[in-house]
Amino acid sequence: MNTIIVGLQWGDEGKGKIVDYLTESADVVVRSQGGNNAGHTVIAGGVKYVLHLLPSGILWDSKTNVIGNGVVIDPVGLCQEIARIEGQGVAITPDKLLISDRAHIVLPLHKELDAAREAALGEHKIGTTKRGIGPAYADKVNRCGLRLADFGDPEFVRNRIAHRVAEANEVLARHNLTTFTSEAVCDEVFAAVERLLPHVTNTIPVLHKAWRSGETLLFEGAQGTLLDIDFGTYPFVTSSNTTAGGACTGTGLPPMAIQRVVGVCKAYTTRVGSGPFPTGDEGLSDYLHGLGREFGATTGRPRGCGWLDTVLLRMACMVNGVTHLAVTNLDGLDQYAELKICTGYQIDGILHKLPPARRDLWDRATPVYETMPGWQTDTTACASYADLPAAARAYLDRLAALCGAPVAFVGVGPDRVQTLAV
Ligand code: GDP
Ligand code: IMO
Ligand code: MG
Repeated sequence: MNTIIVGLQWGDEGKGKIVDYLTESADVVVRSQGGNNAGHTVIAGGVKYVLHLLPSGILWDSKTNVIGNGVVIDPVGLCQEIARIEGQGVAITPDKLLISDRAHIVLPLHKELDAAREAALGEHKIGTTKRGIGPAYADKVNRCGLRLADFGDPEFVRNRIAHRVAEANEVLARHNLTTFTSEAVCDEVFAAVERLLPHVTNTIPVLHKAWRSGETLLFEGAQGTLLDIDFGTYPFVTSSNTTAGGACTGTGLPPMAIQRVVGVCKAYTTRVGSGPFPTGDEGLSDYLHGLGREFGATTGRPRGCGWLDTVLLRMACMVNGVTHLAVTNLDGLDQYAELKICTGYQIDGILHKLPPARRDLWDRATPVYETMPGWQTDTTACASYADLPAAARAYLDRLAALCGAPVAFVGVGPDRVQTLAV
């Protein structure tokens, strides 16, 4: 059975941990979109690994990991990540990591343009990770991007970089920012791509062969549904399709290759960056930050925290075709006496059961809550679903009923072993 793992909220739902858990029974793990704006945390054997571009299956021996065509790759960042993870004792050989020759690359100037754009937006900034993701995808869609395959023709790459540098410098100079020289960019990028070349190949036939021969594939989503360029809280979104459809366009595998969609959500809601967050709650944020939780894996920023929002989850389950839910961080709510669940938004006197499209409506959305008793019991040592307190199981049942999908996995701690199958 082949499975998409997709985030149902604003990212950081614990996808990395769930992918890692499911990798045990998989052969191939594939990333299909996003870039190193992602930060996926896996804790195994007491060791913490943070992965940005590498699929989480890299931590397992004898699994194939693929970075698909839909991902934007910062070659310098990926080389650094490979070195860091190898430094943690994980071997990353060319047969263990395959990179699509059709993947576009993030240039150093994309990161500067990302930062410049954010600075220019001032208080209206998106709150991006400043990894150059938006500008790199913009070049891709604008048909002036660079793909890894292009490096077979160095002259073409040099010309294209010169062209991109000239355009970027105009913008950067307008903002009094440091400009680039084509030579420096070429030196940096060519060196990094050279290092990656043993991994670069046409991944489409590799994935099709794995599928046709009955191997088990896992599609590791990055970001979350509300950050999707189409379905998210536009413009406060990322620049890719983070939802289930991205798994096909970003890998070249067709929809019929996929049988299961595991939607990952936290037992509450978090968000980094700007944009609407109707159930955001300062008290819950302070509480979780006080426990040392909810600091971003990529940027270290504190994440805003709020109550479970089933308006978001309802739409996320629809657009992704979620067949199973994985609810992580249940333990974060262990000591709360009373828990709120948002079941709808009141906007100008009208009850909304699905997120609105209009951005001004988001700003006026008042959550409609129901409350449930907390369990006020430490769940982190629970070894099975049956071990969970009755009130915790009731909370999960209510979540499932409101979202229209069954809960199949529950996270009660960050470690690989703290995942319970229902
Ligand atoms: P991802 O981007 O979706 O892979 O999620 P991140 O790794 O960015 O953020 C999730 C955070 O929650 C990380 O710090 C994980 O170690 C942690 N985590 C995941 N599942 C659980 C859980 O069930 N309980 C606890 N306490 N932490 C968890
Ligand atoms: P994972 O895979 C949480 C957010 C940024 C910002 C918006 C746009 O770890 O869940 P971008 O740099 O993509 O242009 O930023 O998207 N964002 C994430 N938030 N988790 C992520 O990834 C994110 N990737 C991007 O904070 O609001
Ligand atoms: Mg993350």
